[in-house]
Amino acid sequence: MKCKKCGEKASVNMRQHKLALCKEHYLEWVPEQTERFIKKYEMFTHEEKILVAVSGGKDSLALWDILHRLGYQADGLYLGLGIDGGINYSHESQRLAQKFADERGLKLHVVDIEKEYGQPIPVLSEISHRGHGKPCAVCGLVKRHEMNRIARDLGYAVLATGHNLDDEAAVLFGNTLNWSSEYLLRQGPVLPSADGLARKVKPLCRFYEREMTAYCLLRGIEYIYEECPFAEGSTSIYYKELLNQLETARPGAKLTFYLKFLEARKRGDLFIEQNVGQAHLHPCPKCGQPTSAPGLCSFCRTIEKTQQLSLSE
Ligand code: AMP
Ligand code: FES
Ligand code: ZN
Ligand code: ZN
Repeated sequence: MKCKKCGEKASVNMRQHKLALCKEHYLEWVPEQTERFIKKYEMFTHEEKILVAVSGGKDSLALWDILHRLGYQADGLYLGLGIDGGINYSHESQRLAQKFADERGLKLHVVDIEKEYGQPIPVLSEISHRGHGKPCAVCGLVKRHEMNRIARDLGYAVLATGHNLDDEAAVLFGNTLNWSSEYLLRQGPVLPSADGLARKVKPLCRFYEREMTAYCLLRGIEYIYEECPFAEGSTSIYYKELLNQLETARPGAKLTFYLKFLEARKRGDLFIEQNVGQAHLHPCPKCGQPTSAPGLCSFCRTIEKTQQLSLSE
């Protein structure tokens, strides 16, 4: 296999794009494509301050690297979740995120959930009785809430996450299986800012997971290989496996699934937008973030519950 640009030996072969590239041209191609997506979906400009949520995994570190190379003003945010799982998951991922920042002289904000709210994620999950014994539901809730809060408190216009095509296709698949119209209407590369929340963007949403792995390996970015120990057996991993089977038989199927969805949504083919979506949202009386729950938002209710329980112990 030869590089399409220079004819040298290719390092990465992307069947879905009918494109093979050598190391040098691959490392050029990924940022070029990212810049194209940033412009196409009007994610942000060079004048805006961007907060990149970095987990220490390959996608978010690749994203930070790419935005930095493209000359964007991007700082990092690491949330310490307090997840051990026998592999010291949080400790190790924080170390790698910090190392990445230090080596490039970039600014990384670190927020520790246990320090902020009294307990690490697994304990918050246990005492709030949410999520059927798995911490992932509470973890997702807390991460979303904290990313929004910190971006707003620190005055960032944009919050960027490392979600890749495999993540987005799996979420889309789940939302489609359930015909969750509210979620479908809000899923996309950009979620506009609302009620004082920063705009949310996913600049890597058109890259396959393996393209990001290749980027980190060829660029020499050290990242945490392990998945979160609680992710094992999750529905989203199951959907990813299903979609990978489809992709093997029909290269490009995952990308088509996602892109055709975005097109249909843009045309207004999906649902009658006025009837769903943001219609029933109001600000949470405690934290001010938009919620559809009557009274406090789910995050504030979870935290209140855990605090009442720890007081009564
Ligand atoms: P996940 O929900 O683990 O698939 O991660 C999706 C995205 O959320 C990552 O690409 C990061 O941008 C962000 N993220 C996940 N975990 C953390 C964390 N502990 N701190 C900051 N950002 C995170
Ligand atoms: Fe949150 Fe796994 S439970 S990252
Ligand atoms: Zn080449
Ligand atoms: Zn709230």
